[in-house]
Amino acid sequence: MRAVALIPAAGMGKRMGAGMNKQYLLLDGRPILAHTLAVFQEASFVDDIYVVIPEAEIAFCREQVVGKYGFAKVRDVIAGGSERQHSVLNGIRALNGYREDDVVIIHDGVRPFIPTKILKHSIEVASQWDGALVAVPAKDTIKTVEAGVVTGTPPRENIWLAQTPQSFRHGIISAAHEIAAAEGFLGTDDASLVERMGRQVHVVMGDYRNIKITTPEDMLLAETFLKK
Ligand code: CTP
Ligand code: MG
Repeated sequence: MRAVALIPAAGMGKRMGAGMNKQYLLLDGRPILAHTLAVFQEASFVDDIYVVIPEAEIAFCREQVVGKYGFAKVRDVIAGGSERQHSVLNGIRALNGYREDDVVIIHDGVRPFIPTKILKHSIEVASQWDGALVAVPAKDTIKTVEAGVVTGTPPRENIWLAQTPQSFRHGIISAAHEIAAAEGFLGTDDASLVERMGRQVHVVMGDYRNIKITTPEDMLLAETFLKK
């Protein structure tokens, strides 16, 4: 079984408002994306890495991230699409020569604090079941709201916050993405595309430090985590 990491990093970072794509913001002198790729490069059980980047930045990423930091497991840098799901689909279509049972680990380029042992657990669960979703229990009570009015309070013990990695066998995730694309379904994560096929995605306990760097406050948190 091969384990291949697919890293979507083709967003615009609008909520960060940094005037550049947030994956190149520096943490401890290195781009966020380089921190993330280093986890996969150093994990002995990951064989290959594919990165998805805005088309105009492919050359920059190859030189200034993949080449500069020596990420030798990176097999390809692929052009992304307008939504995250399109970027992941482009990445899946670019995976070359994998078997149905190989595991694809989809992980946001802007989640640099993924612990290696969670990565490993995610691959193990994905090779055994229909998928592995890394998630953490909600700490706050969640409300559903429509037009400013509360419409529901789902029991908190059933509420988990989805993170990445989300890992699946190659055959399952490529079918789920192709079916969603053919049907014009747009989900907010990869697991939802597998769930809608009636398949069972298992939860892997995540880590509250495995944040997606999204807004400026997250950079302050990230700097604090790095110091620990
Ligand atoms: N992503 C992607 N292609 C897109 C949109 C997002 O590959 N069209 C990636 C981002 O680069 C990021 C991950 O998906 O690594 C999670 O997305 P998000 O945090 O929303 O990043 P952005 O879309 O860049 O940020 P924003 O939504 O604030 O613009
Ligand atoms: Mg986004």
